[in-house]
Amino acid sequence: MSIAVRIREVGPRDGLQAEEPVDVAERVRLIDALAAAGLHEIEAVSFVSPKAVPSMAGAGDVMAAITRAPGVRYVALVPNVKGAELALEANVDALSVTVSASPAYNEKNVRMTVDESVESVAGIAKIAAPLPIDAVVSCAFGSPYEGDLEPADVDALGRRLLDAGATSLTYADTTGMATPRRVDDLLDRTGIDVGLHLHETRGTALVNAYAAVERGVRRFDTSVGGLGGSPFAAGAAGNLATEDLVHLLDDLGLDSGVDLDKLLDVSAEVARVVGHAVPSRIAAAGPRSRLSSS
Ligand code: COA
Ligand code: ZN
Repeated sequence: MSIAVRIREVGPRDGLQAEEPVDVAERVRLIDALAAAGLHEIEAVSFVSPKAVPSMAGAGDVMAAITRAPGVRYVALVPNVKGAELALEANVDALSVTVSASPAYNEKNVRMTVDESVESVAGIAKIAAPLPIDAVVSCAFGSPYEGDLEPADVDALGRRLLDAGATSLTYADTTGMATPRRVDDLLDRTGIDVGLHLHETRGTALVNAYAAVERGVRRFDTSVGGLGGSPFAAGAAGNLATEDLVHLLDDLGLDSGVDLDKLLDVSAEVARVVGHAVPSRIAAAGPRSRLSSS
């Protein structure tokens, strides 16, 4: 099967990090169910300070208990070298390292300057090679602290991260400041061989994804149900929902490898686990192919 669009499912990490802690067994069930629904890359955990993000405690236990489905890449988010060491001990397949284009957000999120974060990517690359290291540049479309950021500066940070040893880049719209025009402006600089991590704060995640797909971007982060948001960014809201993107991609004839019906079952289960409805529109309305039976 050839996958046209690669989706990195971040629900077990970005989706759950701002929720009340979910126990390890439920997180493991979620990750295994996502793999069974056809997700081939899953950000399963983050190795961060449990004081900073209590919901992500127990990352090592989660990694030890999941069933490693063949062909699935299990990723851990890490903020620093210490997190990477823990992730390697837990035998992850790849790392994503969070670095912000916003100096103020970077300080709040990982308590480092941007320069220190770039240095820590170099340190992580030293110990983690040959594992893939995706550098996720947060607030890439604007920051709640500094406002608009120049695409040239955001792109320059991405290039520094590649020089430091990151093997790929993802640009994240942490607080939903992107619009299709701004996606275009950044892609003019970066080219299309990047991932995008989009949030629905202002209801633009799916139009931004569509704009990027039209330009040829083929990597996206999404979260089952559309859960998510950083606890360190005022006004952050859910991620682009995996089912909303898959629904669009299916209609465009772009295979993501994901079985939408199975994914919707996982989404319903996620709503039960977190104890509230999920924001996804497709979860609420059902896919357009599903005829109303009542
Ligand atoms: N995982 C677990 N523990 C870690 C850690 C990691 N990646 N990095 C540091 N620690 C521990 C240290 O060992 C130390 O423990 P101790 O108090 O028992 O000695 C403690 O945390 C403080 O270490 P320090 O380096 O001073 O960290 P800090 O207090 O400056 O916090 C981070 C820095 C990066 C650990 C913290 O801000 C963090 O975890 N941020 C992640 C935020 C996040 O996940 N945001 C959402 C995703 S983008
Ligand atoms: Zn996010």
